[in-house]
Amino acid sequence: MNAPVMQGMQAHAPAHVKNARLIAWVAEMAALCKPKAIHWCDGSEDEYARLCQQLVDAGTFKRLNPARRANSFLACSDPSDVARVEDRTFICSENKEDAGPTNNWMPPAEMRATLQPLFDGCMAGRTMYVVPFSMGPLGSDIAHIGVELSDSPYVAVNMKLMTRMGRAVLDVLGAQGEFVPCLHTVGAPLAAGEQDVPWPCNPTTKYIVHYPETREIWSYGSGYGGNALLGKKCLALRIASAMGREQGWLAEHMLILGVTSPEGKKHHVAAAFPSACGKTNFSMLVPPAGFEGWKVTTIGDDIAWIKPAADGRLYAINPEAGYFGVAPGTNLLTNPNCMRSLDRDVIFTNVALTDDGDVWWEGMEQDAPGKALPAHLIDWQGKDWTPQIAKETGAKAAHPNARFTVAATNNPALDPAWDDPAGVPIDAFIFGGRRSTTVPLVTEARTWAEGVYMAATMGSETTAAAFGQQGVVRRDPFAMLPFAGYNMSEYFQHWIDLGARLQAAGVRLPRIYQTNWFRKGEDGKFAWPGYGENMRVLKWMIDRIEGKAGAGVEHLTGISPSYGDLNWKGLDFTPAQFDTVTRTDAAAWRDELALHDKLFEQLAQGLPQELKNIRAELEDRLATA
Ligand code: OXD
Ligand code: MN
Repeated sequence: MNAPVMQGMQAHAPAHVKNARLIAWVAEMAALCKPKAIHWCDGSEDEYARLCQQLVDAGTFKRLNPARRANSFLACSDPSDVARVEDRTFICSENKEDAGPTNNWMPPAEMRATLQPLFDGCMAGRTMYVVPFSMGPLGSDIAHIGVELSDSPYVAVNMKLMTRMGRAVLDVLGAQGEFVPCLHTVGAPLAAGEQDVPWPCNPTTKYIVHYPETREIWSYGSGYGGNALLGKKCLALRIASAMGREQGWLAEHMLILGVTSPEGKKHHVAAAFPSACGKTNFSMLVPPAGFEGWKVTTIGDDIAWIKPAADGRLYAINPEAGYFGVAPGTNLLTNPNCMRSLDRDVIFTNVALTDDGDVWWEGMEQDAPGKALPAHLIDWQGKDWTPQIAKETGAKAAHPNARFTVAATNNPALDPAWDDPAGVPIDAFIFGGRRSTTVPLVTEARTWAEGVYMAATMGSETTAAAFGQQGVVRRDPFAMLPFAGYNMSEYFQHWIDLGARLQAAGVRLPRIYQTNWFRKGEDGKFAWPGYGENMRVLKWMIDRIEGKAGAGVEHLTGISPSYGDLNWKGLDFTPAQFDTVTRTDAAAWRDELALHDKLFEQLAQGLPQELKNIRAELEDRLATA
């Protein structure tokens, strides 16, 4: 690049920006998107306050009553823009086979040709925010830097809460550092003099595009969550999973928690659950009666980056710095630590507004005296809501996918090591589905490959609200179905290979567990109390790791506890009830294995031989059961 051109580009950037590749990319994208101004985010509190006020003035944010919810805001989105758009999400690898059968694919050149005219002038009338962010503690050798260009100030303030964002990231990036370029637009250019709307987006055209080989993200048309906050699902899972495969590490859709015994011994667990399976609740678990002196602390609630360290063990960081969680269903019973995290400094999206300027969502009535519903609310679409209207029309006050965005530092159960650049050593992996039958409360895999099989075949029964048809098992391997940035079977192979490599080096691998909090009894009701009571299962896992648990019960798919292996202090749960949540039934497993076969047919290309072997072993065991 010649000197005058470079100088012209530097004019867009503050003097402290030294990275020539970044300066050139911002200039190039600005030339394409044609914003009216460029703002380089410094990540300061002052900047956050100014942008929030700007969003209030624009009608995007309502400031909540500071006496009830200090320094907090409510945004309500366009009704067409309320969730991730999986059918508009693409993995554009050079070869279709590399995206695999579970991802939408288009050749990169064709996608670029499609996007170019859409992005040309897409930011007209708007400011382009340059948002430098670190996924992971600044400077950690597990962390990576991204820079998001977005024409949404809502994105800029959410990124401030969700990531380490701003000037300090540019200092770490320096002149030569690598970053993942992330381009985002709401896809709603403004003509001269045109009045903006509170939630600009493109109601008809959306693209969430990943180029895993060149590590780029281009997002068009949505301002919501994972479509727009590009550090989260796009970078930390889809792009990072492809990077991890190349570089020998794991990017996983997992919470990370620490569990400390009364004697002060600490273990760390990473756990994958599909959406709507209580992941945030588990990451902030409050131990129940009978577990006095035990403590559970949160390192992360959604994503884990996991890398072998010099000692050979797997260490995990939370690449995020905040929580973007589902609000409905959260209350003092299901997640008291989360509710306390939300007392102040929160951005709420698509929840309801109370008459005294606070927020409300379905499930909060559990915390009210007499479980009373509020007499009147303004719902997420700005309409009046009363219990009577809800009864007559079924209208929800909050959208079922309404969210809170809050910094991790608000969490009273935050682990002291949550920001440790070295990460925390992982002792166990948990894979938890939502199954009313068949899968026991908890099963320990006998081998790493058996654990990978459990994770590869995990499933979740759909709920009516989420997917229309109730009770159908949706396979969600590793809870990564919408997030794997490459062929799912290659991803299984990466897990198998990593385990084999560590084992060959003499490393004691983390144990792998399958859980199912959702078994139902003959009465159709959940048979396991869940929430804090899941501590009983967690303690059994730790006892197994420590060699302190009994032999347990070996069955078709692995090892489960016997009734006497769990601590029942403080809970009235009979051996018969325990049988309901742990029993394995040969006929049900025959049907289940047929469903695994269907999944493996779909994923045949590159399916690891090790998983086929486990499938054959299960068949043999069933035959002799
Ligand atoms: C999420 C999700 O928002 O998994 O975390 O959908
Ligand atoms: Mn998630």
